[in-house]
Amino acid sequence: MSTATLTTPDTTAAAEPLIEFAQVEKTYSNGFQAVTPFDLSVGRGEIVSLVGPSGCGKTTIIRMAAGLSKITGGTLTRRTDDLAYVFQDPTLLAWRNVRSNVELVAKLKGVDKATRRDLATRAIETVGLSAFEKALPRQLSGGMKMRVSLARAITGAPDLLMMDEPFAALDEFTRATMQAELLRLWRVNDFSAMFITHSISEAVTLGHRIVVMASKPGRIQAVIDSPSPPTKDGSPRDERALAELGAHVSTLLAGAH
Ligand SMILES: Nc1ncnc2c1ncn2[C@@H]1O[C@H](COP(=O)(O)OP(=O)(O)OP(=O)(O)O)[C@@H](O)[C@H]1O
Ligand SMILES: [Mg+2]
Repeated sequence: MSTATLTTPDTTAAAEPLIEFAQVEKTYSNGFQAVTPFDLSVGRGEIVSLVGPSGCGKTTIIRMAAGLSKITGGTLTRRTDDLAYVFQDPTLLAWRNVRSNVELVAKLKGVDKATRRDLATRAIETVGLSAFEKALPRQLSGGMKMRVSLARAITGAPDLLMMDEPFAALDEFTRATMQAELLRLWRVNDFSAMFITHSISEAVTLGHRIVVMASKPGRIQAVIDSPSPPTKDGSPRDERALAELGAHVSTLLAGAH
């Protein structure tokens, strides 16, 4: 289902998308077709936002991309195994404190202790939780737990980040800060990402492309290139073009239920 990481990149290989779905579909074992056949690719260094009504298959798609859920039709190619996943629920280990939770993925990846500590310190700083390193998950709010989950994902500096509504539980201000942080990390680390959100403005702020889904049956109804995507030099975005894109997505979503 997934191909191994390419070890000898040539120009052709570098231009190949990191993920390619070709007529992929998902029917769960109870016979429910969650997503009808679709094509989609995620390029290297590209952030793809997914929006759509509840139950349209967004989580299903990124779970398949991550190899957590089997495809039941079509072909899925993923050209890296170096990925991190931020689940819709924060999934922290209750008996481990913040630092220990954040270091876990890097530890499982075999990153040595000193490097791991360094990476975790920076990630915890990034999500604004330095004062809570020793806290246990039950001592944190929902939004703080999601920030721990995000810190855990970025600690390994993965090629590919799968994010399932990572900022949904955050207040507006923290959410805007986290969006800016994510883009800053992207400029430095050059990862690819699939980012699920129910917020149109978030999808538009973060995405190079926006996947607009619809339900009954779950499907992709449009994939739209951003007229003013995030750039490596952080140059100003065309706010007017982005507002128009948001309005377009909003119109599509109005008919998506
Ligand atoms: N294990 C499963 N078995 C059967 N049906 C499932 C299973 N998991 C999900 N579904 C169904 O597949 C559909 C898509 O689910 P999915 O979780 O991908 O939606 P979503 O777009 O992420 O929704 P939300 O925005 O609420 O998170 C839903 O109708 C759901 O009930
Ligand atoms: Mg979901």
